[in-house]
Amino acid sequence: MKVAPSLLSCNFARMGDEIIRIDKAGADLIHLDVMDGHFVPNLTIGPAIVAAVRPFTALPFDVHLMIDYPLDYIDAFADAGADIITFHIEAMSDPLATIDKIRSRGVKPGIVIKPATPASDIFPYLDKVYMVLVMTVEPGFGGQSFMADMMPKVTAIKAECARRGLDVLVEVDGGISEKTVGAAAAAGVDICVSGTGVFKAEDAAKAIAALQASDRKV
Ligand code: DX5
Ligand code: ZN
Repeated sequence: MKVAPSLLSCNFARMGDEIIRIDKAGADLIHLDVMDGHFVPNLTIGPAIVAAVRPFTALPFDVHLMIDYPLDYIDAFADAGADIITFHIEAMSDPLATIDKIRSRGVKPGIVIKPATPASDIFPYLDKVYMVLVMTVEPGFGGQSFMADMMPKVTAIKAECARRGLDVLVEVDGGISEKTVGAAAAAGVDICVSGTGVFKAEDAAKAIAALQASDRKV
């Protein structure tokens, strides 16, 4: 499976260098967590930081918006260099309008569900998105424990896509490590986000390679 290290666990004072380090270590995408202190109880980065670190890698930027009004910020994150923008179904913006806006900017749209949200809530949008992100922790902070009980949602989304002949990627985010990735791989996950699992590892290349190899063991 592909691995998207989350910058939330990097050294924020050296973000550019951290991106270079993780790119060299074999990352497939870079995951950037945007929080507004309202949708989730934490504040992180905005479009200015995304734009500032964009020149440090050619890897795709996977921008995860944990904000109340994602639609209002699509232009800013598209201008900043996002390749994928995911937003929460639980946010205030109209999902269809948000997906259309993301696509109109040539960016790939994804929709995210929190642990309490059933998979079926995003079924009406499956034919319009590039990716679905299933949260495996409550969004807001890195370093939390993986919720294995979210895996039936992954299988349900994959099954619904297969039934309708749709090609939609499924990503999981939260608590992914070498220990937990097996369950995600078995459920059919395509991309895993890993913050502490990669950035706090002694050997980032080894950590990334172990996650990437997980689906070859299923
Ligand atoms: C949590 C963020 C995650 C977070 C994951 O709200 O969306 O991307 O950085 O961190 P770990 O891998 O440490 O759980
Ligand atoms: Zn995230």
